[in-house]
Amino acid sequence: MNGHPLLEAREVSVRFGGLVAVDQVSAAFAPGELVGIIGPNGAGKTTFFNALSGVVEPTGGELYAGGQRLTGAKPHRYAQHGVARTFQTPRVFAELSVAANIDFGLQFAGRHRTASWLLKDEASILNLIGLQAQADLPAAAITPSQQRLLEIGMALATRPKLLLLDEVAAGLTESEVDAMAQLIRRLRDELDLTVIWIEHAVTTLLRYVERVIVLHQGRKIADGTPAEVVRNAEVIEAYLGDEMVEPA
Ligand SMILES: Nc1ncnc2c1ncn2[C@@H]1O[C@H](COP(=O)(O)OP(=O)(O)OP(=O)(O)O)[C@@H](O)[C@H]1O
Ligand SMILES: [Mg+2]
Repeated sequence: MNGHPLLEAREVSVRFGGLVAVDQVSAAFAPGELVGIIGPNGAGKTTFFNALSGVVEPTGGELYAGGQRLTGAKPHRYAQHGVARTFQTPRVFAELSVAANIDFGLQFAGRHRTASWLLKDEASILNLIGLQAQADLPAAAITPSQQRLLEIGMALATRPKLLLLDEVAAGLTESEVDAMAQLIRRLRDELDLTVIWIEHAVTTLLRYVERVIVLHQGRKIADGTPAEVVRNAEVIEAYLGDEMVEPA
């Protein structure tokens, strides 16, 4: 550890023409944190992830990984710093087997980075995400929720330090959402990962994260513990009033 955050955004903005999708958002992520990101549709959550992983170049502000300036660098440079992500629309190779999809991630990772012993090979990753029985099926043949797990497995295969999860529980049943939240917690605990997790299933998310960032119209309106955030008047007004019909 060199004392720097794993990843840091300093007043990051992303504009699309006249629209400011991300508006001067600052946030630092320390090793081992599990951080949720919530906010209404169109709040800028995915665009912020795109900036944090080099998929989109910020139109303002700076990004640092381990204290090194990465603003404007391509996604592979972020990957070299241990940043891995999933996409809101799962991206798996439909015709390839589940195992081959994982293998792709392992090859992409190459030699660098210290692999956690738990991620040493395809079998250990399949075991971790619970898809051993589906290893030989084409990715197209598994259920949508299993495809979400597979996408997490592919990201894990790159042996990340920081995992960005964009709505991996979307479309899952209530019990599947809970299982997903438990898996995310386990990944953080057992693999020493830093995880940033975007999800609309706020009630569940707030039970599993230690810190939550709230975005609204591109701006960060809160960043604190779940207990702090659910009491924040601006957050309730902007978002939670609709999402949380019952107390967490
Ligand atoms: N490539 C793009 N070009 C133009 N506008 C975009 C682009 N990507 C996103 N936007 C706009 O930026 C804003 C933020 O979108 P974003 O997808 O980041 O929101 P989000 O918080 O992830 O929403 P959701 O919860 O629906 O996934 C929206 O108004 C969206 O229409
Ligand atoms: Mg999104």
